[in-house]
Amino acid sequence: EDTRKGGFAHYMLKEIYEQPQSFYETIRAGIDEHVRQMVMEADEITLVACGTSYHTALAFKYLAEPLCNIPVRVEMGSEFKYFTPPLRGLAIAVSQSGETADTIAALKMAKARNCPTLAITNMQGSTVTRVADETLLMRAGPEIGVAATKSYTAQLAALMEIVNLRCEGAFDDVLSHAHLAIGDVLLQDINEAVALCSKAEHVFFVGRGAFYPVSMEGALKMKEISYVHAEGYAAGELKHGPFALLTPETPVVAVCTPGPTYGVMASNIKEMKARKAPVIALGVAGDTELAEIVDIFIPIPNTHLLVQVLTASVVLQLLAYHTACALQRDVDKPRNLAKSVTVE
Ligand code: G6P
Repeated sequence: EDTRKGGFAHYMLKEIYEQPQSFYETIRAGIDEHVRQMVMEADEITLVACGTSYHTALAFKYLAEPLCNIPVRVEMGSEFKYFTPPLRGLAIAVSQSGETADTIAALKMAKARNCPTLAITNMQGSTVTRVADETLLMRAGPEIGVAATKSYTAQLAALMEIVNLRCEGAFDDVLSHAHLAIGDVLLQDINEAVALCSKAEHVFFVGRGAFYPVSMEGALKMKEISYVHAEGYAAGELKHGPFALLTPETPVVAVCTPGPTYGVMASNIKEMKARKAPVIALGVAGDTELAEIVDIFIPIPNTHLLVQVLTASVVLQLLAYHTACALQRDVDKPRNLAKSVTVE
């Protein structure tokens, strides 16, 4: 077993470290002609997914709508089956295992409504590939840890390729180099943030735009493997309720990078500080202005938004992982959870 972990303490850590490669491989594999045509013909896209895959789908919405001006709807598999919305255009099922019962049920509903269907999965020959008209395979390789890590970034690779395709290859260069930035953040020192989270009962994760689903995923990872209660929130919504829970013992992890929401994020962070919550901020390297207003500053490379989404996510995976280790949790096999949920 130790050799299969390749010298890492857990499969999860090994899989976190495999992400530069699995991201690169997924980009390199490209998109075949049938899938290309399907994506180019869509005037609207609906994604169905569960768990971590739901978060990648939501990140896609926040990237695809502004960058390539295509309407995107994201639905949880478990809801979609019973409350199928009116559908137009392409339906995409996103599933690492390809066996999640709720996602399969949703995919079948989309087919029954005569939508062209695409499966994005890590498992060749899985049920979603047999149900969908076409498949876009991600190249993450086998993922053993229950918590999704490299399959999450490989899903983002596949979904970012779709964004790139609809933007006429505008991000070719960004995507072909993104794995290097992912490699860089693996070495980021996050000890202080880990110490803070492992003492906390509750942690909030906040961001805006594409960093909102990134925050939801950061919170999910924290809950899944460390059992510390965490909530992912759209940063502007925190004041509509959760502010009542902010105390000096409730850390907030905020992702705040340059762009149209930088200013409003910075003022949100100041509001949290005024409620005495310690703030851990992920921002771009060299952002001294942000570093000055927060308790702990974790730099990510100052790159394109697509790459920031990836690097911020990887830092949050490491934060959950090391917090879980500090609390001596069973990282690869968290209690009550399964790698794939095959019942509805
Ligand atoms: C389970 C796993 C999660 C995963 C979710 C969806 O809950 O523990 O890590 O995100 O299923 O799985 P899928 O295989 O459809 O991506």
